[in-house]
Amino acid sequence: MKKVVLAYSGGLDTCCATRWLKEKGYKVICFVADLGQDEDFKLIEERALIAGADRVYIKDIKEEFLEDFVIPALKANAIYEGKYFLSTALGRPLIAKYLVEIARREKAYAVAHGCTGKGNDQVRFEVSIRILAPDLEIIAPLRIWEFKSRQEEIEYAKKYNIPVEATKKKPYSIDRNIWGVSIEAGILEDLEVEPPEDAYLITKGPSTQMTYPKYIEIYFEKGIPKRIDGKIYKLKNLVNYLNEIGGIYGVGRSDLIENRLVGIKSREIYEAPAATILYTAHKELESLVLDRELLHFKEIISLKYAELVYYGLWFTPLKKALDSFVDSTQDYVTGSIRLKLFKGNCIPVARRSPYSLYKKELATYGREDKFNQNLAEGFIKIWGLPYKIR
Ligand code: ARG
Repeated sequence: MKKVVLAYSGGLDTCCATRWLKEKGYKVICFVADLGQDEDFKLIEERALIAGADRVYIKDIKEEFLEDFVIPALKANAIYEGKYFLSTALGRPLIAKYLVEIARREKAYAVAHGCTGKGNDQVRFEVSIRILAPDLEIIAPLRIWEFKSRQEEIEYAKKYNIPVEATKKKPYSIDRNIWGVSIEAGILEDLEVEPPEDAYLITKGPSTQMTYPKYIEIYFEKGIPKRIDGKIYKLKNLVNYLNEIGGIYGVGRSDLIENRLVGIKSREIYEAPAATILYTAHKELESLVLDRELLHFKEIISLKYAELVYYGLWFTPLKKALDSFVDSTQDYVTGSIRLKLFKGNCIPVARRSPYSLYKKELATYGREDKFNQNLAEGFIKIWGLPYKIR
Protein backbone atom coordinates (compact mmCIF):
# COMPACT_ATOMS: atom_id res chain seq x y z
CA MET A 1 0.00 0.00 0.00
CA LYS A 2 1.29 3.43 -0.94
CA LYS A 3 1.69 5.93 1.85
CA VAL A 4 0.57 9.53 1.82
CA VAL A 5 1.35 12.20 4.40
CA LEU A 6 -1.59 14.57 4.86
CA ALA A 7 -1.43 18.05 6.37
CA TYR A 8 -4.32 17.52 8.74
CA SER A 9 -6.02 20.16 10.90
CA GLY A 10 -8.88 18.17 12.37
CA GLY A 11 -11.53 20.17 10.54
CA LEU A 12 -14.25 18.77 8.33
CA ASP A 13 -12.23 19.00 5.12
CA THR A 14 -9.14 17.19 6.34
CA CYS A 15 -11.21 14.57 8.19
CA CYS A 16 -13.02 13.77 4.96
CA ALA A 17 -9.73 13.90 3.07
CA THR A 18 -8.29 11.29 5.44
CA ARG A 19 -11.17 8.92 4.77
CA TRP A 20 -11.22 9.69 1.08
CA LEU A 21 -7.52 8.91 0.67
CA LYS A 22 -8.02 5.74 2.68
CA GLU A 23 -10.84 4.71 0.34
CA LYS A 24 -8.54 5.35 -2.60
CA GLY A 25 -6.22 2.73 -1.18
CA TYR A 26 -3.58 4.78 0.58
CA LYS A 27 -2.04 4.35 3.98
CA VAL A 28 -2.67 7.76 5.50
CA ILE A 29 -0.22 9.48 7.83
CA CYS A 30 -1.70 12.63 9.32
CA PHE A 31 0.56 15.50 10.29
CA VAL A 32 -0.77 18.10 12.70
CA ALA A 33 1.30 21.26 13.01
CA ASP A 34 0.87 23.01 16.34
CA LEU A 35 1.38 26.64 15.36
CA GLY A 36 -0.60 27.95 18.29
CA GLN A 37 -4.10 27.42 16.94
CA ASP A 38 -5.44 26.67 20.43
CA GLU A 39 -7.04 23.30 19.70
CA ASP A 40 -7.53 20.10 21.65
CA PHE A 41 -4.90 18.00 19.93
CA LYS A 42 -5.95 14.81 21.71
CA LEU A 43 -9.41 15.14 20.22
CA ILE A 44 -8.04 15.99 16.80
CA GLU A 45 -5.85 12.89 16.89
CA GLU A 46 -8.77 10.66 17.89
CA ARG A 47 -10.81 12.05 15.02
CA ALA A 48 -7.99 11.31 12.58
CA LEU A 49 -7.79 7.70 13.74
CA ILE A 50 -11.55 7.27 13.46
CA ALA A 51 -11.41 8.77 9.97
CA GLY A 52 -8.90 6.10 9.03
CA ALA A 53 -5.43 7.51 9.67
CA ASP A 54 -2.77 4.87 10.13
CA ARG A 55 -0.61 7.18 12.12
CA VAL A 56 -0.81 10.73 13.49
CA TYR A 57 2.13 13.02 14.05
CA ILE A 58 1.57 16.10 16.20
CA LYS A 59 4.43 18.53 16.43
CA ASP A 60 4.76 21.80 18.31
CA ILE A 61 6.54 24.06 15.83
CA LYS A 62 5.63 27.41 17.35
CA GLU A 63 9.16 28.35 18.27
CA GLU A 64 10.61 27.51 14.90
CA PHE A 65 7.72 29.36 13.30
CA LEU A 66 8.45 32.49 15.29
CA GLU A 67 12.21 32.40 14.97
CA ASP A 68 12.62 31.39 11.35
CA PHE A 69 9.49 32.75 9.71
CA VAL A 70 7.87 35.47 11.79
CA ILE A 71 11.03 37.30 12.87
CA PRO A 72 12.42 37.64 9.32
CA ALA A 73 9.03 39.05 8.25
CA LEU A 74 9.03 41.44 11.19
CA LYS A 75 12.56 42.63 10.45
CA ALA A 76 11.41 43.25 6.87
CA ASN A 77 8.18 44.97 8.03
CA ALA A 78 6.43 42.74 5.51
CA ILE A 79 2.73 43.48 5.31
CA TYR A 80 0.44 42.48 2.44
CA GLU A 81 -1.73 45.17 0.91
CA GLY A 82 -1.21 47.35 3.93
CA LYS A 83 -3.32 45.28 6.31
CA TYR A 84 -2.32 41.63 6.52
CA PHE A 85 0.58 40.45 8.67
CA LEU A 86 0.73 37.17 6.75
CA SER A 87 0.09 34.85 9.69
CA THR A 88 -1.42 32.11 7.53
CA ALA A 89 0.99 32.62 4.66
CA LEU A 90 4.08 32.38 6.89
CA GLY A 91 2.92 29.10 8.40
CA ARG A 92 2.50 27.20 5.14
CA PRO A 93 6.13 26.76 4.07
CA LEU A 94 6.98 25.47 7.53
CA ILE A 95 4.17 22.92 7.41
CA ALA A 96 5.40 21.94 3.94
CA LYS A 97 8.89 21.41 5.33
CA TYR A 98 7.55 18.93 7.91
CA LEU A 99 5.30 17.19 5.41
CA VAL A 100 8.40 16.48 3.35
CA GLU A 101 10.45 15.47 6.39
CA ILE A 102 7.81 12.97 7.52
CA ALA A 103 7.27 11.73 3.97
CA ARG A 104 10.99 10.89 3.82
CA ARG A 105 10.97 9.18 7.19
CA GLU A 106 7.87 7.18 6.30
CA LYS A 107 9.11 6.51 2.77
CA ALA A 108 5.85 7.93 1.49
CA TYR A 109 4.87 8.16 -2.13
CA ALA A 110 2.98 11.42 -1.82
CA VAL A 111 1.97 14.31 0.38
CA ALA A 112 -1.51 15.80 0.53
CA HIS A 113 -3.28 18.89 1.82
CA GLY A 114 -6.84 20.02 2.44
CA CYS A 115 -6.77 23.25 0.47
CA THR A 116 -9.37 24.11 -2.11
CA GLY A 117 -8.51 25.03 -5.67
CA LYS A 118 -9.48 28.67 -5.11
CA GLY A 119 -7.05 29.84 -2.46
CA ASN A 120 -3.47 30.83 -1.90
CA ASP A 121 -2.58 28.05 0.48
CA GLN A 122 -2.58 25.31 -2.16
CA VAL A 123 0.01 27.37 -4.02
CA ARG A 124 2.16 27.92 -0.93
CA PHE A 125 2.10 24.24 0.00
CA GLU A 126 2.76 22.91 -3.44
CA VAL A 127 5.44 25.37 -4.51
CA SER A 128 7.28 24.76 -1.23
CA ILE A 129 6.95 20.98 -1.53
CA ARG A 130 8.14 21.00 -5.15
CA ILE A 131 11.20 23.01 -4.15
CA LEU A 132 12.06 20.79 -1.18
CA ALA A 133 11.19 17.46 -2.78
CA PRO A 134 10.63 17.59 -6.54
CA ASP A 135 10.11 13.82 -6.70
CA LEU A 136 7.17 13.65 -4.28
CA GLU A 137 3.67 13.39 -5.67
CA ILE A 138 1.16 15.93 -4.39
CA ILE A 139 -2.50 15.11 -3.89
CA ALA A 140 -5.11 17.80 -3.34
CA PRO A 141 -8.30 15.82 -2.57
CA LEU A 142 -10.51 18.91 -2.36
CA ARG A 143 -9.70 19.83 -5.94
CA ILE A 144 -10.64 16.44 -7.31
CA TRP A 145 -13.17 14.76 -5.06
CA GLU A 146 -16.86 14.38 -5.75
CA PHE A 147 -18.29 16.46 -2.90
CA LYS A 148 -19.93 19.65 -4.08
CA SER A 149 -20.79 21.22 -0.72
CA ARG A 150 -20.04 21.15 2.98
CA GLN A 151 -23.34 19.36 3.47
CA GLU A 152 -22.17 16.49 1.27
CA GLU A 153 -18.95 16.29 3.25
CA ILE A 154 -20.90 16.15 6.51
CA GLU A 155 -22.98 13.28 5.13
CA TYR A 156 -19.83 11.48 4.03
CA ALA A 157 -18.32 11.94 7.50
CA LYS A 158 -21.52 10.63 9.10
CA LYS A 159 -21.46 7.56 6.91
CA TYR A 160 -18.04 6.68 8.35
CA ASN A 161 -18.90 7.72 11.92
CA ILE A 162 -16.39 10.54 11.92
CA PRO A 163 -17.46 12.90 14.70
CA VAL A 164 -17.56 16.22 12.89
CA GLU A 165 -20.41 17.79 14.85
CA ALA A 166 -17.89 20.01 16.57
CA THR A 167 -16.35 21.17 13.31
CA LYS A 168 -19.48 22.32 11.55
CA LYS A 169 -20.87 24.81 14.05
CA LYS A 170 -18.69 27.73 12.97
CA PRO A 171 -20.23 30.16 10.51
CA TYR A 172 -16.77 31.26 9.34
CA SER A 173 -13.65 29.72 7.90
CA ILE A 174 -10.89 30.40 10.38
CA ASP A 175 -7.17 29.89 10.24
CA ARG A 176 -5.44 30.65 13.48
CA ASN A 177 -1.89 30.54 14.72
CA ILE A 178 0.27 32.35 17.25
CA TRP A 179 0.89 35.22 14.81
CA GLY A 180 -2.73 35.94 14.04
CA VAL A 181 -6.22 34.87 13.06
CA SER A 182 -7.61 34.90 9.51
CA ILE A 183 -11.39 34.83 9.22
CA GLU A 184 -13.47 34.60 6.08
CA ALA A 185 -16.71 33.30 4.55
CA GLY A 186 -20.25 33.41 5.89
CA ILE A 187 -21.68 36.89 6.29
CA LEU A 188 -18.21 38.36 5.62
CA GLU A 189 -18.75 37.64 1.94
CA ASP A 190 -21.23 40.51 1.93
CA LEU A 191 -18.97 43.54 1.51
CA GLU A 192 -21.68 45.94 2.59
CA VAL A 193 -21.90 44.39 6.02
CA GLU A 194 -19.66 45.37 8.92
CA PRO A 195 -18.03 42.28 10.43
CA PRO A 196 -20.15 41.15 13.38
CA GLU A 197 -18.45 41.02 16.78
CA ASP A 198 -18.82 37.25 16.93
CA ALA A 199 -16.41 36.91 14.02
CA TYR A 200 -13.49 38.01 16.19
CA LEU A 201 -11.68 35.48 18.33
CA ILE A 202 -8.90 37.25 20.21
CA THR A 203 -9.64 40.99 20.17
CA LYS A 204 -12.26 42.86 22.13
CA GLY A 205 -14.69 45.25 20.46
CA PRO A 206 -15.09 48.87 21.52
CA SER A 207 -17.95 48.16 23.93
CA THR A 208 -15.86 45.81 26.02
CA GLN A 209 -12.48 47.53 25.91
CA MET A 210 -10.73 49.23 28.78
CA THR A 211 -11.55 52.84 29.54
CA TYR A 212 -7.95 53.75 30.38
CA PRO A 213 -4.94 53.43 28.09
CA LYS A 214 -2.16 50.96 28.72
CA TYR A 215 1.48 51.88 28.18
CA ILE A 216 4.07 49.25 27.32
CA GLU A 217 7.72 49.51 26.44
CA ILE A 218 9.34 47.08 24.03
CA TYR A 219 13.07 46.64 23.80
CA PHE A 220 14.61 45.31 20.57
CA GLU A 221 18.10 43.98 19.98
CA LYS A 222 19.18 43.98 16.35
CA GLY A 223 15.57 44.04 15.24
CA ILE A 224 14.43 41.22 17.53
CA PRO A 225 12.05 41.96 20.42
CA LYS A 226 13.60 40.87 23.70
CA ARG A 227 11.94 42.65 26.63
CA ILE A 228 8.64 44.15 27.62
CA ASP A 229 8.72 46.76 30.36
CA GLY A 230 12.26 45.72 31.22
CA LYS A 231 11.41 42.05 31.65
CA ILE A 232 13.15 39.50 29.42
CA TYR A 233 10.75 37.20 27.58
CA LYS A 234 11.22 34.14 25.46
CA LEU A 235 9.88 34.92 22.02
CA LYS A 236 6.87 32.66 22.34
CA ASN A 237 5.87 34.16 25.69
CA LEU A 238 6.45 37.66 24.41
CA VAL A 239 4.13 37.13 21.46
CA ASN A 240 1.51 35.41 23.60
CA TYR A 241 1.61 38.23 26.11
CA LEU A 242 1.24 40.91 23.43
CA ASN A 243 -1.66 39.04 21.83
CA GLU A 244 -3.37 38.95 25.17
CA ILE A 245 -2.79 42.55 26.19
CA GLY A 246 -3.31 43.87 22.66
CA GLY A 247 -6.51 41.86 22.38
CA ILE A 248 -7.89 43.41 25.56
CA TYR A 249 -7.35 46.88 24.08
CA GLY A 250 -8.85 45.90 20.72
CA VAL A 251 -5.55 46.31 18.88
CA GLY A 252 -4.80 44.54 15.61
CA ARG A 253 -8.07 44.15 13.74
CA SER A 254 -8.21 44.66 10.01
CA ASP A 255 -10.72 44.16 7.24
CA LEU A 256 -9.18 43.62 3.82
CA ILE A 257 -10.47 43.19 0.29
CA GLU A 258 -7.49 41.23 -0.87
CA ASN A 259 -6.03 40.12 -4.16
CA ARG A 260 -5.46 36.40 -4.12
CA LEU A 261 -2.75 34.87 -6.21
CA VAL A 262 -5.35 32.97 -8.24
CA GLY A 263 -6.89 36.23 -9.42
CA ILE A 264 -9.93 36.39 -7.17
CA LYS A 265 -10.65 39.35 -4.93
CA SER A 266 -11.87 38.19 -1.55
CA ARG A 267 -12.71 39.69 1.80
CA GLU A 268 -10.93 38.50 4.88
CA ILE A 269 -10.74 39.98 8.35
CA TYR A 270 -7.67 39.59 10.49
CA GLU A 271 -6.70 39.79 14.12
CA ALA A 272 -3.06 40.26 14.93
CA PRO A 273 -2.52 42.15 18.18
CA ALA A 274 1.09 41.07 18.77
CA ALA A 275 2.06 41.61 15.15
CA THR A 276 0.51 45.08 15.13
CA ILE A 277 2.30 46.10 18.30
CA LEU A 278 5.65 44.66 17.24
CA TYR A 279 5.55 46.09 13.71
CA THR A 280 4.58 49.50 15.06
CA ALA A 281 7.42 49.46 17.55
CA HIS A 282 9.95 48.00 15.12
CA LYS A 283 9.20 50.58 12.45
CA GLU A 284 9.36 53.36 15.01
CA LEU A 285 12.80 52.22 16.09
CA GLU A 286 13.98 52.02 12.50
CA SER A 287 12.81 55.60 11.96
CA LEU A 288 15.21 56.58 14.69
CA VAL A 289 18.30 54.59 13.75
CA LEU A 290 18.28 54.10 9.97
CA ASP A 291 19.45 56.88 7.69
CA ARG A 292 17.01 58.30 5.20
CA GLU A 293 18.12 56.48 2.05
CA LEU A 294 18.33 53.10 3.75
CA LEU A 295 14.95 53.55 5.39
CA HIS A 296 13.29 54.52 2.13
CA PHE A 297 14.88 51.71 0.17
CA LYS A 298 13.86 49.27 2.87
CA GLU A 299 10.24 50.32 2.41
CA ILE A 300 10.41 49.06 -1.17
CA ILE A 301 11.90 45.79 0.05
CA SER A 302 9.05 45.43 2.56
CA LEU A 303 6.53 45.38 -0.27
CA LYS A 304 8.48 42.79 -2.22
CA TYR A 305 9.01 40.67 0.87
CA ALA A 306 5.29 40.65 1.68
CA GLU A 307 4.43 39.73 -1.87
CA LEU A 308 6.92 36.90 -1.87
CA VAL A 309 5.53 35.46 1.37
CA TYR A 310 1.97 35.80 0.12
CA TYR A 311 2.86 34.15 -3.18
CA GLY A 312 4.39 31.09 -1.54
CA LEU A 313 7.96 31.83 -2.61
CA TRP A 314 9.56 31.33 0.79
CA PHE A 315 12.14 28.73 -0.21
CA THR A 316 13.52 30.74 -3.10
CA PRO A 317 16.80 32.52 -3.81
CA LEU A 318 14.98 35.86 -3.77
CA LYS A 319 13.86 35.31 -0.21
CA LYS A 320 17.41 34.43 0.81
CA ALA A 321 18.81 37.49 -0.91
CA LEU A 322 16.24 39.81 0.62
CA ASP A 323 16.98 38.34 4.04
CA SER A 324 20.66 39.17 3.63
CA PHE A 325 19.76 42.74 2.82
CA VAL A 326 17.26 43.05 5.65
CA ASP A 327 19.60 41.45 8.18
CA SER A 328 22.33 43.87 7.24
CA THR A 329 19.98 46.74 8.08
CA GLN A 330 19.26 45.46 11.58
CA ASP A 331 22.69 45.86 13.20
CA TYR A 332 21.67 49.12 14.88
CA VAL A 333 17.99 48.39 15.38
CA THR A 334 18.46 48.25 19.12
CA GLY A 335 16.52 50.31 21.61
CA SER A 336 13.19 50.83 23.33
CA ILE A 337 9.85 52.05 22.10
CA ARG A 338 7.04 53.03 24.41
CA LEU A 339 3.56 52.54 23.07
CA LYS A 340 0.10 53.50 24.14
CA LEU A 341 -2.66 50.93 23.62
CA PHE A 342 -6.12 52.37 23.69
CA LYS A 343 -9.45 51.67 21.99
CA GLY A 344 -7.99 49.68 19.14
CA ASN A 345 -5.03 52.00 18.62
CA CYS A 346 -1.38 51.30 19.13
CA ILE A 347 0.57 54.55 19.16
CA PRO A 348 4.29 55.02 19.73
CA VAL A 349 4.81 57.79 22.27
CA ALA A 350 8.48 57.60 23.23
CA ARG A 351 11.68 56.14 21.82
CA ARG A 352 15.27 55.61 22.92
CA SER A 353 18.32 54.01 21.30
CA PRO A 354 22.08 54.14 21.76
CA TYR A 355 22.25 54.37 17.94
CA SER A 356 19.73 57.16 17.57
CA LEU A 357 20.49 59.44 14.63
CA TYR A 358 18.31 62.15 16.07
CA LYS A 359 20.49 65.04 17.18
CA LYS A 360 18.62 67.56 19.22
CA GLU A 361 21.24 70.27 18.57
CA LEU A 362 20.46 69.94 14.85
CA ALA A 363 16.70 69.63 15.09
CA THR A 364 15.98 72.24 17.73
CA TYR A 365 14.37 75.60 17.16
CA GLY A 366 15.80 76.68 20.49
CA ARG A 367 19.01 78.49 21.33
CA GLU A 368 21.20 75.36 21.38
CA ASP A 369 20.86 75.19 17.58
CA LYS A 370 24.09 73.96 15.91
CA PHE A 371 22.71 73.71 12.38
CA ASN A 372 24.43 76.12 10.01
CA GLN A 373 21.51 77.70 8.19
CA ASN A 374 23.85 79.55 5.81
CA LEU A 375 24.67 76.28 4.10
CA ALA A 376 21.03 75.76 3.12
CA GLU A 377 21.06 78.48 0.48
CA GLY A 378 23.79 76.88 -1.64
CA PHE A 379 22.33 73.43 -1.14
CA ILE A 380 18.93 74.49 -2.40
CA LYS A 381 20.39 76.24 -5.44
CA ILE A 382 22.22 73.13 -6.54
CA TRP A 383 19.36 70.77 -5.64
CA GLY A 384 16.98 72.81 -7.77
CA LEU A 385 19.47 73.57 -10.53
CA PRO A 386 18.20 71.01 -13.08
CA TYR A 387 14.75 72.55 -12.93
CA LYS A 388 16.02 76.10 -13.06
CA ILE A 389 17.91 75.21 -16.23
CA ARG A 390 14.87 73.57 -17.70
N1 ARG B 1 -6.26 35.11 2.91
C1 ARG B 1 -5.23 34.64 3.77
C2 ARG B 1 -4.04 34.17 3.00
O1 ARG B 1 -4.16 33.88 1.85
C3 ARG B 1 -5.72 33.58 4.72
C4 ARG B 1 -6.18 32.30 4.07
C5 ARG B 1 -6.80 31.27 5.02
N2 ARG B 1 -7.96 31.81 5.67
C6 ARG B 1 -8.92 31.12 6.25
N3 ARG B 1 -9.84 31.82 6.85
N4 ARG B 1 -8.96 29.83 6.26
O2 ARG B 1 -2.96 34.08 3.55
